[in-house]
Amino acid sequence: MSEPLEWLQCISCRKTYPLTEVLYHCSCGGLVEVQRSPTQWLKISRPLIEARRLSHAQEDISGVWRFREGVLDLPLPSIVTHPEGGTHLYQRSELSQWAETDEVWFKHEGENPTGSFKDRGMTVAVSMAKYLGKKFVACASTGNTSASLAAYASQAKIQGVVFIPQGKISMGKLAQAVGYGSKILSIRGDFDKAMELVQKTATQLQLYMVNSLNPFRIEGQKTIVWEILEQLRWNAPDWLVLPAGNLGNTSAFGKAIQEALLAGWIQNPPKIASIQASGASPFYGSYLKQFASLEPVTADTVASAIRIGNPVNWTKARDCILKTRGVVTSVTDGEILEAKRQIDLSGLGCEPASAASLAGLRKLRREGVIPKNARVVCTLTGHILKDTDTLMGQYQNPHGNSHGNSHELPLGAVEIEPTVASVAKALGL
Ligand code: F0G
Repeated sequence: MSEPLEWLQCISCRKTYPLTEVLYHCSCGGLVEVQRSPTQWLKISRPLIEARRLSHAQEDISGVWRFREGVLDLPLPSIVTHPEGGTHLYQRSELSQWAETDEVWFKHEGENPTGSFKDRGMTVAVSMAKYLGKKFVACASTGNTSASLAAYASQAKIQGVVFIPQGKISMGKLAQAVGYGSKILSIRGDFDKAMELVQKTATQLQLYMVNSLNPFRIEGQKTIVWEILEQLRWNAPDWLVLPAGNLGNTSAFGKAIQEALLAGWIQNPPKIASIQASGASPFYGSYLKQFASLEPVTADTVASAIRIGNPVNWTKARDCILKTRGVVTSVTDGEILEAKRQIDLSGLGCEPASAASLAGLRKLRREGVIPKNARVVCTLTGHILKDTDTLMGQYQNPHGNSHGNSHELPLGAVEIEPTVASVAKALGL
């Protein structure tokens, strides 16, 4: 029998499993990841990836499937693509100045079809679900994963089921899951409870779970980093800064860097800076204790996307931070909202959790961890429209009694009669 080209492997005991085995943990309890043979890696190269940008086929337009030999080598008819990825890399001098850093880039993952980076992982996990003939796909979510799952499940004609913490996700994200037609299960409990429940359900009711414990999610999310490298002409930046909750993305970033080195696409690995909200920072707590253990917390932060107290991918993420000699830190809600305001005013815009990246960069600069002349890429994980309640709350009259979801005029807005004279008066002309 010939050697497999791709397989699943435990990150702890290295036990291997076939690629098509439905598996979220190894028999030893360790997390599993996709591995591929040197022969498989020979199938993909920088020229091939770049040449596909000229193609009009959906799987080549996708910023995920353009890298398919290094993501998941499925038969093309099984691929469920929107397409996704192909997001832009921006520079804004005022934001570089604000972060006191010479060269900062912003990878805007809010430009994905459902408005967050989750689409990159979801296209791969749902394609696998389709390939395996699954009837249900399920996830627990703080909002973005559920929005993404709902869209891709509908496209694949598979029933989506989303477990969401009651009252804890933004209306926009919930509306997406509703609109795209998933079954909504509102859990009396927080995200961590919902995550526990979806894992039990996945095992006992054979729902196919597409949280980032699903190794195929991580494979898709690696392409954020690979696209950044390609956009920077394969001159790797010094630092990649990103917000961290359940730690799937930190794990994906680390794997992407290791594999880019292995494939010879880059020579110098970027370091990862993983940024948590201070009210939801168990990974940061663990980092401070040299990762001896992870103590779960009850999470509380304005950045609802990363309101997570017991991140399921922490062992994978720990290995990534150690291997890239990266860092973990935390920022307060005030720092997150301040950074968000700067990002919004630059015209880029993002949801609160995404702004943790810029807030974290500024903090790490001030602490001297990241030097001024470093080349840095911050990932903006979600779109400004994802959480309009928080945004409007920021601009609400502090003396008003609304919490952002009313039709009260935001601070600075003026109510006028529909006349040119009123406009002139309001503008001081
Ligand atoms: N940024 C945004 C906008 C997110 O939605 C998430 C996670 C993260 C950052 C953190 O990524 O969990 O891989 O460390 N959102 C998940 C969800 C948990 O359910 O949508 P992570």
